[in-house]
Amino acid sequence: MAKSYWIGDVLSGSHDGAEVELKGWVHRSRGSNKIRFVVLRDSTGTVQCVIKRETVGDSVFEDLAGALIESSVVLKGTVSPTDREHGHEVQVSSGEVIGPVSPDRPFPITESAMAEADGGETEFLLDNRHLYLRTGRMTTMLKIRSSVFGAIHSYFRDLDFVEYQAPNFVAGAVEGGSTLFEVPYFGRKAYLTQSWQLYAEAAMPSLERLYTVAPSFRAEKSRTRRHLTEFWHAEMEIAWGGNEEVMNHGEALVRNVAGKLLEEREAELTDLGRDLDLVSRYADSKYPRMRYDEAIETLQGLGIAVEWGQDLDYSKEKVLTQDFDVPHFLTHYPRIAKPFYHRPDPDDPKYVLCHDLLAPEGYGEIIGGGERTWSEKEILERIDEEGTPREPYEFYIDVRRYGGVPHGGFGMGVDRVCSWLSGADHIRETIPFPRDSRRVTP
Ligand code: 4AD
Ligand code: MG
Repeated sequence: MAKSYWIGDVLSGSHDGAEVELKGWVHRSRGSNKIRFVVLRDSTGTVQCVIKRETVGDSVFEDLAGALIESSVVLKGTVSPTDREHGHEVQVSSGEVIGPVSPDRPFPITESAMAEADGGETEFLLDNRHLYLRTGRMTTMLKIRSSVFGAIHSYFRDLDFVEYQAPNFVAGAVEGGSTLFEVPYFGRKAYLTQSWQLYAEAAMPSLERLYTVAPSFRAEKSRTRRHLTEFWHAEMEIAWGGNEEVMNHGEALVRNVAGKLLEEREAELTDLGRDLDLVSRYADSKYPRMRYDEAIETLQGLGIAVEWGQDLDYSKEKVLTQDFDVPHFLTHYPRIAKPFYHRPDPDDPKYVLCHDLLAPEGYGEIIGGGERTWSEKEILERIDEEGTPREPYEFYIDVRRYGGVPHGGFGMGVDRVCSWLSGADHIRETIPFPRDSRRVTP
């Protein structure tokens, strides 16, 4: 049952005049008792197939004419160029329905169903997410997503980084207790990991340059356009490097991802209405660095109520990044705004040597990273000042006790990057089955 012909190739003209066997799903169907026009869909596109009773015979004609939307079919025929939509159509000589759709239960995602669902459209589509995946918009998004993942892996592998896996069940927080997911664990408590980082630091003396792309979990109670409870996290860690080196990797990675998308997914970005000039600007420009204090002054200058010492939430980042033409790094956050693992700046320990990368167009944070506190004395001080128990972090402190070295890394929210680069309105558009505080189904 292997497949040899793809609709994308038919549309590109490479099978003009040739006999093809197309396998796919009925996207639309209309016609009369004598002739049917079936728009067939596969993962590479849609093409109109013309089925004539006098050519295919009564029995095949009846079967194909009765194939409802999303029935799977195999159609054989000859490709001919036309003036109609897509420029090519297939004159069908024979065909077969493989997986029918019953008239008792037609495919639920139709334009009229969406109109009826009205304001509930989003919930309706989320309830039917498993079927919504087949629509053109999701196919396009998922292809863009695949290229983003591919670009991340090739960026790190080309630089001889080793891909490394950390556990997902952990005993302590990385990014603060308020978003920890607690799981019962054989009479004890465990948590779903918020980040690969701490276990990556343990392997830093072994591998020196390491990365992962893996899910992270955060019990985010509020539903926003940039938070998921399960998101995909691209993280890296390097030995013998500080905030600057880590930022340079973050910048190079994001530029690479934007460049790869233009190379591989220009058609998909165009389909989504994305401005390609913006994406190429993100691929080609340098990303400026700005200190946290400067950002606070800018925000205060705009009349935004924000106090020194606060981490910047989305409402602030949105305002700040609205007029950015490229992503900007914000560096040197106040020590009190960031978790214990960030290294205090030796020049002014009120600040830590960290960075967030903020995407323009109001998107906000896509990367968080920095230099790690790497001496035993300093890490104990930071853990104690946060009021965190030391016990779950003994393994982490040991990394400092046995040959600690300067090191650092970052985490990039892959779904956020997909959302920003594709121009999506909401992060859930970019992931097949989005998880938030209200939804774990389907
Ligand atoms: O800034 P965060 O919390 O940093 C860390 O987790 C570090 N331990 C990473 C490291 O240094 N290895 O998260 C990193 C990025 C954010 O910038 C954001 O893009 C993404 O992860 N992120 C989320 N994406 C979607 N939904 C959420 N709930 C997210 N929380 C963080
Ligand atoms: Mg952050």
